[in-house]
Amino acid sequence: MSRKIYLDNASTTFVSGEVLSEMLPCFNALYGNSNSLHSYGRDAQAIVDRARDRIAHAINAKKSNEIYFTSGGTEADNWAIKGIAHAYASKGKHIITSSIEHHAVLDSCKALEKEGFEVTYLPVDKYGLVSVADVIHAIRKDTILVSIMAVNNEVGTIQNIKAIAKTAHDYGVIFHTDAVQAVGAFKIDVQDMEIDALSMSAHKIYGPKGIGALYVKDGILIENLLDGGTQERGKRGGTVNVPSVAGLGKAVEIACRDISINQQKLKAIRDYFIKSVNEKIEYVHINGHPQQKINGTVNMTFEMAEGESLLMLLDLDGIAVSTASACMSNAVTPSHVLKAMGLSDELAQSSIRFSFGKNISKNDIDYVVEMLAKNVARLRSISALTKAGRK
Ligand SMILES: Cc1ncc(COP(=O)(O)O)c(C=O)c1O
Repeated sequence: MSRKIYLDNASTTFVSGEVLSEMLPCFNALYGNSNSLHSYGRDAQAIVDRARDRIAHAINAKKSNEIYFTSGGTEADNWAIKGIAHAYASKGKHIITSSIEHHAVLDSCKALEKEGFEVTYLPVDKYGLVSVADVIHAIRKDTILVSIMAVNNEVGTIQNIKAIAKTAHDYGVIFHTDAVQAVGAFKIDVQDMEIDALSMSAHKIYGPKGIGALYVKDGILIENLLDGGTQERGKRGGTVNVPSVAGLGKAVEIACRDISINQQKLKAIRDYFIKSVNEKIEYVHINGHPQQKINGTVNMTFEMAEGESLLMLLDLDGIAVSTASACMSNAVTPSHVLKAMGLSDELAQSSIRFSFGKNISKNDIDYVVEMLAKNVARLRSISALTKAGRK
């Protein structure tokens, strides 16, 4: 085996050359502490300021100081959910989210439930869409926060964020969105979309791991995350990770600058992949919304082929894919997202996520589909279900 093809970009991406070039000087030439008053500190602060400006510009935030750096999407989600809930607890203790959120949101809500908050987990339809009517029905007098992800990480469905945010505001409720999978997929305008808080992460968009940001609209209250320093306007103390912040800023700038060219390419690859799979393999279903979805992620169910086994066989052929959420890949339980969309345990466990990166070619896809057809056939030949007479 010599060929290697990475189709797990929704899990993480490589760091692009442009991003790396932005980061490297921050490790040695420009190594100051951005909090220091001398020139070394001021140089580092200028790098941090530039990254904050780039991110604010990319999502059309009104002010750069509405952007707070975090250690990634998980921290941004934890901070948004718990920090806003705690800040508004005297107003009410009810939160609305969806059943298909990333565990960073779901588990933050679970933690709040232990403190006495009540959480409504909205269902989704078979395409993974949250209904705006369901949001309206769930809103109560004591609802303080609605948190709905912009794009689902497993199936790629895009939620009606603007309509949901507007609905929340009609009832005086704050709106947060986990946009970790949305940045770079389409234009995000926090003012036009009426977003109060938004989480993002660098390592899904060719930036480094362990860095992200939380946008919090001016005027929205949020509890401090880390005490012990004046960094991040006193809300998240600790010496700033300047190289990673520089990398995040550059990664967000590039991702938003190149949306149209990247999406055009990803759409062509995605459509070619689906067409080729449909030509070569039977009993395949595509999970997620048929139109309202990002181009880079395709989730497919291969009936009568167990997903984890298929993943392992593809790995032997040099192809990296994912079952369920990559962050949960140690879990043997079926994906909570596919289950919420109505798939049986068996179909959910026969599903694979393919997420394309910007370096993929049609030639790579030809190889992937060939290996997929071979390995699906191999698994089906030993599947009890096949023997039971599905074919
Ligand atoms: C939708 C979504 N939210 C949050 C996260 C967590 O981000 P991070 O890995 O930066 O903590 C991920 C990562 O998989 C994600 O896909």
